[in-house]
Amino acid sequence: MEPLDLFIFLMLLCLQWTAAPATKNIDWTYTGLVGQSEWSQYFPDCSGDSQSPVDVVTTQTKYDPSLIPLTPLGYSQHGNAPFTLYNNGHTVVIELPEWMGLRGLPWFFTAVQMHLHWGSGGPSHGGSEHTINGLSADAELHVVHYNSELYPNMSTAMTQRDGLAVLGILIVTGEETNVAFNNILNYLSRIRHADQKVPIPAFDIQSLLPTDLGRYYRYNGSLTTPPCYQSVIWTVFNDRVQISKAQLLKLETLLYSSKAEDEYRILLQDNYRATQPLNHRVIFTSFSAESGKELSSGEVTAIVIGVMCGCVGVAVIIRFIVKTIRSTSSWDVLPSNRPAPMPRMSRPEKANEKKQDMALNSTSEAEKKEEPSPPPQTEP
Ligand SMILES: *[C@@H]1O[C@H](CO)[C@@H](O)[C@H](O)[C@H]1NC(C)=O
Ligand SMILES: *[C@@H]1O[C@H](CO)[C@@H](O)[C@H](O)[C@H]1NC(C)=O
Repeated sequence: MEPLDLFIFLMLLCLQWTAAPATKNIDWTYTGLVGQSEWSQYFPDCSGDSQSPVDVVTTQTKYDPSLIPLTPLGYSQHGNAPFTLYNNGHTVVIELPEWMGLRGLPWFFTAVQMHLHWGSGGPSHGGSEHTINGLSADAELHVVHYNSELYPNMSTAMTQRDGLAVLGILIVTGEETNVAFNNILNYLSRIRHADQKVPIPAFDIQSLLPTDLGRYYRYNGSLTTPPCYQSVIWTVFNDRVQISKAQLLKLETLLYSSKAEDEYRILLQDNYRATQPLNHRVIFTSFSAESGKELSSGEVTAIVIGVMCGCVGVAVIIRFIVKTIRSTSSWDVLPSNRPAPMPRMSRPEKANEKKQDMALNSTSEAEKKEEPSPPPQTEP
């Protein structure tokens, strides 16, 4: 090998040695040297045009009637194996069993893990990642799933468009304790330092979700932490979940982002990303409550005509039902202590035959003819 070639070869080797580990294992944070405004220097996707979280401006959302309620599968069948609670230095994570999934999206999604984002109880009053009309909630739960119909595993899916589906649950505080959340919060004191893990009793994951899974916001976005892959179909529920102030305080004050062996302890707080520009995107809603206020005169006319047609339709149906009941009631109210007469069994069939025959000619005629016919036949 020529000396120059060797030199270049060694240079390249050096570059690889210094460059590769630096970007792969970079220890990002929410503020400071590798804070959120710096993420994109190390993780280029973080400056993409479809990032999360976003502020949901409700007047600019679009109602999409095809957005059906989501169905969590197996969320309540947790089995006997314990869950693992993990402090990864950025959040608290619970790994989810692979039989938990999500139906109601164009593909089937398999659950992977869930985690939380929260604030510091300070005057900034942040905590949630998604905001609605500029307002933060106190915390936010994310349940992460991957598209197991198209991809073999989470690591492949997370880089693909439509690869992930995340449920976003906004959490606010109130007077009452939310016992479901104690299944997590009661064990935080055992994983105070980063990298600590503890097995916890399995519990009903669905009890963490709002009861109404039919009203939500839907948009295409990204992971809210590096590497910020733009692979997430987001569902942010309209209904918030409530925990007590004492419960929120546990979340905000018990965990450290530093490791047990670190000299300085750093509280794990304010682990939420700022909202990102919507750019070209539209946020769809599965419900139309907001748009009801701003109907155009054309829409009002359409609704009035629609309602009138509906009323006429209902009236016609009621008239038909009443007639049918009248025509059958005479033998339905026979005294019950005597044996049911044979015609009771065969009549409905006969009536049906008759009806079908008549329907070929004229329905109204069928109704007329049927009315007087039962009494003479059923009286023994
Ligand atoms: C995920 O699937 C890909 C493709 O089949 C495979 O190469 C990779 O090793 C898998 N990763 C994990 C973590 O199982
Ligand atoms: C998300 O992007 C896909 C294209 O990749 C598009 O078909 C779909 O309608 C988008 N969904 C939303 C909610 O914008």
